[in-house]
Amino acid sequence: MNVILVAAECAPWSKTGGLGDVAGALPKALARRGHRVMVVAPRYGDYAEPQDSGVRKAYKVDGQYMEVAYFHAYIDGVDFVFIESAVFRHMEHNIYGGKREDILKRMVLFCKAAVEVPWLVPCGGVCYGDGNLAFIANDWHTALLPVYLKAYYRDNGLMIYTRSILVIHNIAHQYKELFAWIISVKFIQGRGPVADFSFVDLPGHYLDLFKMNDPIGGEHFNIFAAGLKTADRVVTVSHGYAWELKTVDGGWGLHGIINENDWKFRGIVNGIDTEDWNPQYDVFLKSDGYTNYSLETLKTGKAQCKAALQKELGLPVREDVPVIGFIGRLDHQKGVDLIAEAIPWMMGQDVQLIMLGSGRPDLEEMLRAFEHQHRDKVRGWVGFSVQTAHRITAGADILLMPSRFEPCGLNQLYAMNCGTIPVVHAVGGLRDTVHPFNPYEESGLGWTFDSAEVGKLIHALGNCFYTYRDYKQSWEGIQRRGMMQDLSWDHAAQNYEEVLVAAKYQW
Ligand code: GLC
Repeated sequence: MNVILVAAECAPWSKTGGLGDVAGALPKALARRGHRVMVVAPRYGDYAEPQDSGVRKAYKVDGQYMEVAYFHAYIDGVDFVFIESAVFRHMEHNIYGGKREDILKRMVLFCKAAVEVPWLVPCGGVCYGDGNLAFIANDWHTALLPVYLKAYYRDNGLMIYTRSILVIHNIAHQYKELFAWIISVKFIQGRGPVADFSFVDLPGHYLDLFKMNDPIGGEHFNIFAAGLKTADRVVTVSHGYAWELKTVDGGWGLHGIINENDWKFRGIVNGIDTEDWNPQYDVFLKSDGYTNYSLETLKTGKAQCKAALQKELGLPVREDVPVIGFIGRLDHQKGVDLIAEAIPWMMGQDVQLIMLGSGRPDLEEMLRAFEHQHRDKVRGWVGFSVQTAHRITAGADILLMPSRFEPCGLNQLYAMNCGTIPVVHAVGGLRDTVHPFNPYEESGLGWTFDSAEVGKLIHALGNCFYTYRDYKQSWEGIQRRGMMQDLSWDHAAQNYEEVLVAAKYQW
């Protein structure tokens, strides 16, 4: 089958979170299964490999024609096509930034340009646009793709065998508009006033697809809603999340549509790049006192990484103290405020806490303040560093993820692959992937707590510390079980393939 994955970000070229990782890794796994696979993403910077294909086309966005160029590279068995335009240039650190109208226009342009790729850009001399084609769109940014496929093509008798799948990584992905975090729910799902319909440039009878009325936004325009109605299949990045989306709390206004389209849904837990996140080969563990390690050398290797991490960050180098890591966006979703509430208790324990992330200015400030107040126990690294993320994941004993909601979550998977034990709020993908430790059976992979409350978090962490200190064998058992799992993309890719086939033969 020919498969084209379309996403607003794609690692290693662009990444703000897990979506970028998925766009970088899933296509390669599908290609390994014998499919012809392409990724389409915006060209935010002057990437080295992709070459100008020479193809140019102008698209009408909000009444104005905008020209795009198509760049192409063939890497690891996958075609990568990057869409170049003045509106994407130098936005790699601000992919979802700017005014609401600006990001809307960028995504309209991107989706219009992407839906034509199978006809416009010859890859290795042959276009993708034969009958056996499926698009995989991701989150609201590309939810217009299934809509354009329907409106411009299928409804006109063109590309009628081409299918579209929409993946929900996060139904509440926010714009980064200034102060958007204060009024955040108004800035999710491509929401806006009904008049925004003019931006998407479709005949009037398609308006009903976009028009929504819910308690969050009243009557409004909603891109994600239109995509969910139009796509042939919908994938969520875990089973737990598929279920949560159908509830009033989890659906962020779209639970009605999601329940109506229930038959299209399927949960598939993301895989991870097991080369990139393999402590045995990890390039970030090759210097500065770190070391590569495997299941066989877990004990000594991990101890060395822990000491190197403590040294690098200027914490007391001590083997017997549990090191807790937190890596993630600093926002309400990730539950950073719960960690903040737990700090007084935590600082009364013999622990070290290392936090890495950026996001809400008040939470960034909080991180700095914690470090300042507890210099021998806390490090708060504001910003994002791939190297530091790898080193924390390998060097810490525990990874804390108190997310309020977490569609899949990748950091807990990276952690388990490195023998670092997750302590998580049991929601979405965290519930799917971190089976709680059972001391009677010596089974399970970490500690979980069942509601986003500081008391519950403390209880779970307390049990975790207790096992760390007094039950070393149980601890090592959890580490080993975590490392022995097959977390690779190959399994997930097989599930995606089933969805692609189901979409294809649905009538
Ligand atoms: C989003 C979700 C995260 C998921 C990722 C990749 O970032 O918040 O839970 O792992 O997408 O699907």
